[in-house]
Amino acid sequence: MTIFKGIILFLLLCFLFSTIYTSSHPNTLLCNQIEKHALLSFKHALTDLGNRLSSWSAKEDCCGWNGVRCHNITGKVIELHLHNPCSSGFLEISCNLLNFSLGGKVSPALLQLEFLNYLDLSWNDFGGAPIPSFLGSMQSLRYLNLYHASFGGLIPPQLGNLSNLHSLYLGGYSSHQPQLYVENLGWISHLSSLKYLHMPEVDLHKEVHWLEFTSMLPSLSKLYLDDCNLDNMSPSLGYVNFTSLTVLHLSFNHFNHEIPNWLFNLTTSLLQLDLRYNSLKGHIPSTILELRYLNSLDLSQNQLIGQIPEHLGQLKHLEYLSLGYNSFDGPIPSSLGNLSSLISLCLHGNRLNGTLPSSLWLLSNLQTLMIGNNSLADKITEVHFNKLPKLKKLHMSSPSLIFKVKSNWVPPFQLEYLQMSSCKMGPKFPTWLQTQTSLGSLDISKSGIKDIAPTWFWKWASHIDRLIDLSDNQISGNLSGVLLNNTYIDLSSNCFTGELPRLSPQVFALKMANNSFSGSISPFLCQKLNGKSFLRILDMSTNSLSGELPHCWTYWQSLSRLNLGNNNLSGEIPDSMASLFRLTALHLNNNSLSGDIPPSLRNCIFLGLLDLGDNKFSGNIPSWMGEWTTLMVLSLRSNRLIGTIPPQICQLSSLIILDFADNSLSGTIPKCFNNFSLMTTIGTEDDAFSFFEYYSGAENYENLMLVMKGKASEYKSILKLVRTIDLSSNGLWGSIPPEISNLSRLQSLNLSFNHLVGSIPDKMGSLEALESLDLSRNHLSGEIPQSMKNLTFLNHLGLSYNNFSGRIPSSTQLQSFDALSYIGNPELCGPPLTKNCTKDEESQGMDAIDEDEEGHEMPWFYISMGLGFIVGFWGVCGALFFKKACRYAYFQFLYDVKDWVHVAIAIRWNRLRNNLRTSFIHFSYFNEKKNYLPHFKILKAKRKMMKNTNNNNLSILS
Ligand SMILES: *[C@@H]1O[C@H](CO)[C@@H](O)[C@H](O)[C@H]1NC(C)=O
Ligand SMILES: *[C@@H]1O[C@H](CO)[C@@H](O)[C@H](O)[C@H]1NC(C)=O
Ligand SMILES: *[C@@H]1O[C@H](CO)[C@@H](O)[C@H](O)[C@H]1NC(C)=O
Ligand SMILES: *[C@@H]1O[C@H](CO)[C@@H](O)[C@H](O)[C@H]1NC(C)=O
Repeated sequence: MTIFKGIILFLLLCFLFSTIYTSSHPNTLLCNQIEKHALLSFKHALTDLGNRLSSWSAKEDCCGWNGVRCHNITGKVIELHLHNPCSSGFLEISCNLLNFSLGGKVSPALLQLEFLNYLDLSWNDFGGAPIPSFLGSMQSLRYLNLYHASFGGLIPPQLGNLSNLHSLYLGGYSSHQPQLYVENLGWISHLSSLKYLHMPEVDLHKEVHWLEFTSMLPSLSKLYLDDCNLDNMSPSLGYVNFTSLTVLHLSFNHFNHEIPNWLFNLTTSLLQLDLRYNSLKGHIPSTILELRYLNSLDLSQNQLIGQIPEHLGQLKHLEYLSLGYNSFDGPIPSSLGNLSSLISLCLHGNRLNGTLPSSLWLLSNLQTLMIGNNSLADKITEVHFNKLPKLKKLHMSSPSLIFKVKSNWVPPFQLEYLQMSSCKMGPKFPTWLQTQTSLGSLDISKSGIKDIAPTWFWKWASHIDRLIDLSDNQISGNLSGVLLNNTYIDLSSNCFTGELPRLSPQVFALKMANNSFSGSISPFLCQKLNGKSFLRILDMSTNSLSGELPHCWTYWQSLSRLNLGNNNLSGEIPDSMASLFRLTALHLNNNSLSGDIPPSLRNCIFLGLLDLGDNKFSGNIPSWMGEWTTLMVLSLRSNRLIGTIPPQICQLSSLIILDFADNSLSGTIPKCFNNFSLMTTIGTEDDAFSFFEYYSGAENYENLMLVMKGKASEYKSILKLVRTIDLSSNGLWGSIPPEISNLSRLQSLNLSFNHLVGSIPDKMGSLEALESLDLSRNHLSGEIPQSMKNLTFLNHLGLSYNNFSGRIPSSTQLQSFDALSYIGNPELCGPPLTKNCTKDEESQGMDAIDEDEEGHEMPWFYISMGLGFIVGFWGVCGALFFKKACRYAYFQFLYDVKDWVHVAIAIRWNRLRNNLRTSFIHFSYFNEKKNYLPHFKILKAKRKMMKNTNNNNLSILS
């Protein structure tokens, strides 16, 4: 019996197996020959570097080809899935998008695929070619995806003939110009079946009726028009007739009006609304309650004001609410505690005050809670978190939040992201961190910790893959032998001692400035790395490091910013530093380095900042420095340099700071300083600086010691606004070249302690931005030019110990200095000096005034005074302090254009792929560190940078 049963079972199994087998292998189904040839012609017109279409060969059944799908009965080709397989990962360096891009020409042979209803060519690279207009004749198409395929130019209106289309994806970032654009969107209203329209980054600014046309689509359910240069979302017809819209994404545009009312007519349909990164104004209207099924709302990064409306708590379906980075004030409404479905709540970066409502701590589904960077004041203890077991992201940075938990606290959650900068959690080191095993990013900077880093800490921290920021505490400990392997590490301004730690290759930025690390720097720089280092930023300034710079720089070729200033380093700059050709900022100041400025540095052609000040460098200033056309800041002060100032220096047209003070330079001042165009013209600054900023990072600015107005001080965030020339304390002779008076943006000019002769150039008053002028201790003579009365910003003046003569011109400014500014000039007279002028001197002075007033310069002075006022040094600086957007950083990756494109794409993709939902919870490493510069700005800066690099020598990059 059992045998019989067994046989039946066996037969049954065989039967089952064979049916499954045959049905899954419809090998009776051979593709149509015409279609096969069409596909082969299509393939031949394409370029296929990654050999993705290798299965497409004449011999085989085309229905089995990679990416081809046929109808299971007719055998006709119905779908082509040819998106780049590398498109899905974020920063997956192992899969390089470019290597797997299809390109070349899209052949009209596709027209022969009569039944094609699905065409996906996304994430390829068609080199900026226009979208082929014949696609408009492919009547069967229901799905067309050309997203991020580097098509460019005008979108062909013929696409409007695709009456069966229900999904259309165009746009995406392209490294080719022109970007896709639309002049008239009328064609879109013919796509009567369209449900899904995705056109981010398509330039729509010429089409003022975009809203009208898109709202004519009766089935449209999802609309994505992010970063489309749109500037108005008020309907031109007075009403909008979307009937079934569920998802509306209009982020990264330029809307600068109030939130329009028509949105609130989408009462029953709208589920997702994304308006972040615009300039929306006004309050959140109470009509928002009409959107009663709203599931996610993102209004972050706008200019909305007023209180967060209490009634938001009635939108019961909300899971994602983001109001971050606006100007909301007042308290967090306690009604938000009613939103029991809430998964993500982002209110950071506003002006909210008061305490945290207790209802907030009952939102037990919460995974993301971002309330930092407000004026909230509260004491938070472990009790608050009892009901938040799902919490993954917590942002509570705020100086008035106190976070006090027991040392043996075991939190109910496992965090992935913790941002508690400036939150008071010290003085003990937070031991509860040890319970968190999934943390990817930890920022407890400025949190008042005054303790030894516990022994478990470094081993535990090695599991944090992205960011670890302990800066600005008083944490001590010895890091000798510790291996650091987080992407971004900031230990600056603490009390760490011992030798430098070891580093794994994936570290991108290491900042250990302002600690007490000691010992030779060689073991660190010459350590055996487990592969090619990605280190871009290394800041070990202000420690007690000693020894010579070793010859190991070839290990660190990706370095972009290197700061070894304020240590005890000695010896010469080794030749191997020539391998640091990507350097944009090099600080070796205030050490005991000696020898010539070596030719090896000539390789660093992207330098934006070079600070070799306060060392013992000798020899001449090399004339090849003129090749660093991106150099903005050059300080060689307080060394032992001799010889003349090479005129090639004038080729550094981007220079804003030139400091050769306190050397033994001789010869004359070159007459070509008027080539420093950022010191002469207004308007080019932003362009030039985006280049510099990108290169040198701005989140933590480059710093530089400058001596201005007789005081040495460190300049950081405002460095880019400084314009100064300091040639003081050298042995320069000759006269002051009149060309210097063209530097109308110069704020400080110091030529003191030299052997200069002749008179002050007549037009010195054209330096209308000048705040500090020091010409003391020279052999200058003649009268003080009348034009200097126009120096309205001057607040530091040194003319002492020269041979000036005549009356000091009278102006509120020139008389406001005390006599010390003028002493040591026996022939000088008039206030503020006590010496009265004789008749002779008097009349000379009057003549000069007459001459000047006849001169045609006068009206110009008045105009420029106004400008001078606007760009006034401190005025601008003040503004800068408040400009969050200036704090961008980290995208140092990329002189390597390939890398660059890859990252840009990945970021873009990441942003756009993530619909609103994930955008709340996804914080890329780059984003989470206090950077909120809109991505499109970064990209624009980068596009600019690419243009710049294209002009430079690209060949060395690859
Ligand atoms: C053929 O495809 C259609 C949908 O395209 C599907 O519904 C049907 O089940 C398929 N038939 C077989 C035999 O696989
Ligand atoms: C709005 O759209 C619906 C459906 O497409 C249509 O029936 C109605 O007439 C439209 N209303 C207006 C005012 O255009
Ligand atoms: C909202 O809908 C009402 C009718 O339901 C209509 O009268 C009004 O014009 C619409 N408002 C907008 C801005 O579309
Ligand atoms: C919050 O700020 C407003 C003004 O912005 C002020 O009137 C109010 O008193 C503040 N509330 C608290 C609790 O500080």
